[in-house]
Amino acid sequence: MADKCERIIDEFTIDRAALESVAATFRRDIKRGLEGDELSSFKMLKSYLGLPTRQEEGEYIALDFGGTNVRAALIRLRGNGQPEVVKKAARKLVGSDYSYISAATDAQGLFDFIAAVVMEVAQPGQEYRLGHTFSFPSLQDNLYNARLISWTKEFAVRGVEGEIVNDLLVQALQRRGGVKIEPVAVINDTVAVLAAAAYKYDKADIGSICGTGHNTAYLERYRDSGKAVKPMILNLECGNFDKLLTNTFDKVLDAASEKPQEQRLEKMVSGRYLGRLFYLVLCDVFDLEAKGIDFDGAELAAILSDQTMLLDKVREIVKEKLGLVLDDEAAVWVKAFAEAIVVRAARLTAATYVGIIWHMDGDACIGEHIIAIDGSLFEKMPLYAENMRKAIYELLGADSDRIKLVLENGGSSLGAAIAAAVGQNV
Ligand code: BGC
Repeated sequence: MADKCERIIDEFTIDRAALESVAATFRRDIKRGLEGDELSSFKMLKSYLGLPTRQEEGEYIALDFGGTNVRAALIRLRGNGQPEVVKKAARKLVGSDYSYISAATDAQGLFDFIAAVVMEVAQPGQEYRLGHTFSFPSLQDNLYNARLISWTKEFAVRGVEGEIVNDLLVQALQRRGGVKIEPVAVINDTVAVLAAAAYKYDKADIGSICGTGHNTAYLERYRDSGKAVKPMILNLECGNFDKLLTNTFDKVLDAASEKPQEQRLEKMVSGRYLGRLFYLVLCDVFDLEAKGIDFDGAELAAILSDQTMLLDKVREIVKEKLGLVLDDEAAVWVKAFAEAIVVRAARLTAATYVGIIWHMDGDACIGEHIIAIDGSLFEKMPLYAENMRKAIYELLGADSDRIKLVLENGGSSLGAAIAAAVGQNV
């Protein structure tokens, strides 16, 4: 058993040289993406948003759609970088007897559900502008008209791909009637997180999500373009980065996913998939037939936090989930697999940040950067944030002191309100 287990741990281990190569390849793909070269794995989607001035004021409705919950909030911006959440509402997209992510739902069903949550935060008799954080790859040529290119994160609702999502929202709001709400902006969650951080801090120029899905946006200053172009936040859609060494489990997971061959980085690093990788490893080690079972983020976190002598929690979770009784040795390996999967995710993601920083700073010395991150992995998963910082140190040495990773909790909502307030500014 030990040999096999060690081999599996090796498959999930990324040494410094491999990390450096990920960062360098990532940097090259950004350059290629900016040049419109199809070899780039990135969509380089324009947001039509620059950084906020921090003077933005007013009350806006923020809608956040694209993770486990749909959230709406009434947010007051006070023009001094001090936002206030006046009211909020949230609903899970999947419940015991319904799913608003699967092909069983169509566009109208989904957007009616979303509109109902939006209405919960609106006050009768008022008029609002709404900013919409829509966390899927979308093509737009202004701040409003984002058109969904394709679903990710195993979403499969019918009739939304290829559509302008705010049009669907407008129709759903009209069907409900009542309060006058005007959707004016659509942004990706990575763009939202960056805008939210830049509302509070200098030096924020990268925004990233490490949660159910994974993706990063950064402020492109177009320094190499030779033209006077205003800086704009670009959504890389780097969950689709595919120049990576995948192992046996990554391949099995990809083949059985909704969209094989797509979102290869996301399938190695994001919360939607880590529990599945873990499950596939356990199936292999304990000769189980793989079924549609996933461990969720909370279970993985509980396994990683188990400090008891005999790993009681690890045993309990695996017994409950798979009906498997672990002996002492097996329990130690099971925890080690969870660690290896989570640490790989953190290191790979950190390497991509370094790739972006190398792109931004070129051959000049590394400047100060705040990387704003939202998502349950960064916020809650044991080992995750610390291994990110460690990997950045491995790649940048003392220069890593100038790179700050900050949790921008709720950035998706605040960013949506800021986008509604700013309007198109590039
Ligand atoms: C989507 C991105 C999004 C990320 C995080 C990915 O699956 O393609 O647009 O930013 O998830 O939510």
